[in-house]
Amino acid sequence: MDFVALVLLVLPAWVANSIPVVFGGGTSIDGGRLAWDERPWLGKGKTWKGAFSGIVFGVAAGAIVAALFGAYYLENASIEAKLFVAGGLSVGAIAGDLLGSFFKRRMSTPSGQQSIVLDQMFFLVAALLVAEVLEPGLLGYVGFQGFVFLAALTFVLHALFNVIAHRLKLKKVPW
Ligand code: CTP
Ligand code: MG
Repeated sequence: MDFVALVLLVLPAWVANSIPVVFGGGTSIDGGRLAWDERPWLGKGKTWKGAFSGIVFGVAAGAIVAALFGAYYLENASIEAKLFVAGGLSVGAIAGDLLGSFFKRRMSTPSGQQSIVLDQMFFLVAALLVAEVLEPGLLGYVGFQGFVFLAALTFVLHALFNVIAHRLKLKKVPW
C-alpha cells in the first residue's frame, strides 16, 4: 500500500471539507427554510460561500498535487483527467457534508453538535464514490486496507483541525 499516493489522492476531499470553516458564512443553502418536520433542511452552518470555496480550493489542491507530484495513482493520466477526479472528490466531499447535515437535522441534532460518523466519515465516503463514478477503478486501487487507513487518518486530522480552528476562533466548538 502506497500511503503517500493515497494521501495525495484524497487531498482535494480533505481541502474541500476544511476550507468552508475559513471562507464560509453568509447566506445558508436552505435559506433558513424548514423541512416537513419543522426542522431546518440543512441548518445555518451550510452556506453557498462555504460550498463553492470548498470546491474551488479542492480542485486547486488537486492541480497543485498534479503539478508537484508525478508519481501517484493517476500518474499517466492527462492533466484534465486529474482535475476531473479532483473535482469529483471535492464535489463529493461537499455533497457528503451537506447530506450529513441533512441527516443530522432529521435526527434533531442542532447545527454544530457533533456526530462522529456523519461529520467525519460521510464526506470521505461520498467523495470516493463520486470519484469512482468519474474514474472507474479508483476504489479498487484504494482497496479495503487503503480505505481503513484513509478513514483513520481523516478521523485524526478532522479532530486536530477542528481544535486548531477553535483556537483560531474560526469555530465556536472544538469539533
Ligand atoms: N461552513 C459553511 N458552509 C459549508 C460548510 C461549513 O459556511 N457548506 C462553515 C460554517 O460556518 C460552519 C463551519 O464551517 O459553522 C463548520 O462546518 P461544519 O462543522 O461542517 O458545520 P456545523 O456548523 O457543525 O453544522 P452541522 O451540524 O450541520 O455539521
Ligand atoms: Mg460541525
